[in-house]
Amino acid sequence: MMRSNLTRHVVVETTAMLLFSPRRSFCGGAVGGRRPRQRGFRWVCWDAKDDVDVRDAFVRRLRHRCRASSSSSTSSSLKAFASTRSALKKGGDEEPRSLPHRHHHHVSVVVGSNRGIGFAFAKHLLESNATIVGAHRAHGIVVATCRKPSEARALHALRERFGCTERLDIVRVDVLDEKTIEDAATFAREKYGRVDLLVHAAGVLHEPEGKMVPETSIARLDAEACVASYRTNAIGPMLVTKHFSKVMLKTADENKTQPIPVIANVSARVSSISDNKLGGWYSYRGGKTALNQMTRTAHLEFSRKKNPIAMVLLHPGTVDTELSAPFKKNVPEGKLFTPEYSAGKLLEVLKDVTLKESGKFYDYAGVEIPW
Ligand SMILES: NC(=O)c1ccc[n+]([C@@H]2O[C@H](COP(=O)([O-])OP(=O)(O)OC[C@H]3O[C@@H](n4cnc5c(N)ncnc54)[C@H](OP(=O)(O)O)[C@@H]3O)[C@@H](O)[C@H]2O)c1
Repeated sequence: MMRSNLTRHVVVETTAMLLFSPRRSFCGGAVGGRRPRQRGFRWVCWDAKDDVDVRDAFVRRLRHRCRASSSSSTSSSLKAFASTRSALKKGGDEEPRSLPHRHHHHVSVVVGSNRGIGFAFAKHLLESNATIVGAHRAHGIVVATCRKPSEARALHALRERFGCTERLDIVRVDVLDEKTIEDAATFAREKYGRVDLLVHAAGVLHEPEGKMVPETSIARLDAEACVASYRTNAIGPMLVTKHFSKVMLKTADENKTQPIPVIANVSARVSSISDNKLGGWYSYRGGKTALNQMTRTAHLEFSRKKNPIAMVLLHPGTVDTELSAPFKKNVPEGKLFTPEYSAGKLLEVLKDVTLKESGKFYDYAGVEIPW
């Protein structure tokens, strides 16, 4: 960030700091302190056109602190801010838009959120029940990805229902097209400067009009369908990790303390080799086992960073979605979960993830699944 070039006026004291651009169109601020709850400065930045609410909320907070501490340096900084602000209102030169600002709210990304379990994840995160999502995630931003945003009616309805247009972005990601993944990661980095939670829920077991079927015998194994399954279930999530981990590692560097940013890949119990007692479903099982191995490998890479991010694998149970529809008659009574129930349980598991849980595979009840 070009912070040093931008800084014309800096005031630092125990609780507050303001920065003003020499060309008066970019401002930022930070609040923090020595007491444990305040430790570490949190950056809040904005530019002339955007984030008026963020900017004003920050200034209100700063005023409050300023009154509490009767700090003359902060007061003069506020006066300087007020004059800069009126200059902004009149219009002025703009700094380059490429300067990323770090949003003060928790940012979650849910890949594959058009329907099924992914949609339920996005809904819970927006509903912000702190018991389910965790106090630190409540009222956060959700970047919900799907293949066709213009046709994602359920997501658009969610946005209307909660009146949370500012808390929900609907962004295109097709995990078979790496460019869409890269663009979505760039979107999150440029708009929010952080990603705290990434849930990868996209997956495929069968395609109604394609060759992909859950093979009950080796005789039905088809190379093309098997590769297609591996691409969606194993390679896709890892390409998502490849692009989003950059901004998540940066988030970890800036957070430094807990909560640690988390990547959660939705796998399936059938991927467990030691648990495989039924056979069948060659491509899906194999694809999810490959996902487990690559997730574990990425966990090891990230755990060696100075400020790591955590990676876990999740089994959602048997859930009543399009993916499980052809098999649900075989599910014992009470064992077929709704997507809301499953995603809620998984979010409760994710709430407590630290580096200690990273690199492991958990079911909806938080019980570790053997490889
Ligand atoms: N349901 C279960 O019982 C169960 C059990 C164990 C594990 N799982 C796993 O849970 C995850 C979610 O499954 P679900 O039951 O919610 O299935 P679902 O209702 O069939 O939803 C699958 C989701 O994946 C998305 N998707 C498929 N291909 C994609 C691609 N190329 N790029 C981006 N998104 C793509 C779909 O998007 P579109 O809407 O655009 O098609 C949809 O949002 C999957 O990984 C699945 O393997 C499910």
